[in-house]
Amino acid sequence: MTVSQTLATGREINPDALPKPDLYQLITSLVVPRPIAWVSTLSLSGRRNLAPYSYFSLVADHPPHIAVSSIGEKDTLRNIRATREFVVNVADRSLLDVLDRSGSSFPPDLDEFVEVGVTPAPSSVVRAPRVAEAKAHMECRLVDVHPVGNGNLVIGRVVHIHVEPSVWDDGRVDSALLDPVLRLSRRYGRLSAEMTPEEEPAPHVYT
Ligand SMILES: Cc1cc2nc3c(=O)[nH]c(=O)nc-3n(C[C@H](O)[C@H](O)[C@H](O)COP(=O)(O)O)c2cc1C
Repeated sequence: MTVSQTLATGREINPDALPKPDLYQLITSLVVPRPIAWVSTLSLSGRRNLAPYSYFSLVADHPPHIAVSSIGEKDTLRNIRATREFVVNVADRSLLDVLDRSGSSFPPDLDEFVEVGVTPAPSSVVRAPRVAEAKAHMECRLVDVHPVGNGNLVIGRVVHIHVEPSVWDDGRVDSALLDPVLRLSRRYGRLSAEMTPEEEPAPHVYT
C-alpha cells in the first residue's frame, strides 16, 4: 500500500471532537510503549507514598533530568510540591502485580509500601524512600511543575542513581536483565529484544 492509499483509507481525527474516554484510548494507543516511573515520595508528615506513572520521559542527560505527568492533583504531586523530592524506581516483571496494585487510589493517610507489600529502603541523597525490591532507582529533586492540559508536568533533576550489580553486563545496564515493565494501550508490555546488527540503521554520529 502506498502512503497516499494509507492516508486515503486512514481516519482523520480532530481530537477536540472526540469524547474524553475515546481520546484517552486513542492517544495512549499511539504513544507506546511507555516506560513506567514507579514514584515513591514522602508527605510532609513523613507518610510513605508509591504510585506508577507512565507519562514519563527523559528530558536531559547532562545533568540528567526526567519528567512525569500527573493527571490532576494526586498524592504523589502534592508530596513532590511539599518536599521537592521523589524517587523513580524501575519495576521489573517480578514486581508487576505490586506495581499495578500501587495504582489503586489509597487514602493519603495509608502507607502504600505497607499496603502493597514492598520494603522501603533509605535513599542516598533524598529523604523519600526507595523500593528495596526494585533493581534501579533514580533519586530526584524537583525543578519545576508546569500545568499542561489536564496534566501537571513534574520535571526532576536526577541527583543520585542506584543500579543493582545483577543488571550490569560488560560495563553497562543490560535492558534484558533490567526487564522493565512497560505500558501499552490496554495492557502491560515487556521488552522483547534488541534489534540485530543487520536490522539496525547504519551507524552515524548523533548530535
Ligand atoms: C501502569 C499505570 C500507569 C499510570 N500512569 C499514570 C500517569 O502517568 N499519570 C497519572 O496521573 N496517573 C497515572 N496512573 C494512575 C495513578 O497511578 C493512580 O491515580 C494512583 O492512585 C495515584 O496515586 P497517588 O495519589 O498516590 O499519587 C497510572 C496507573 C497505572 C496502573
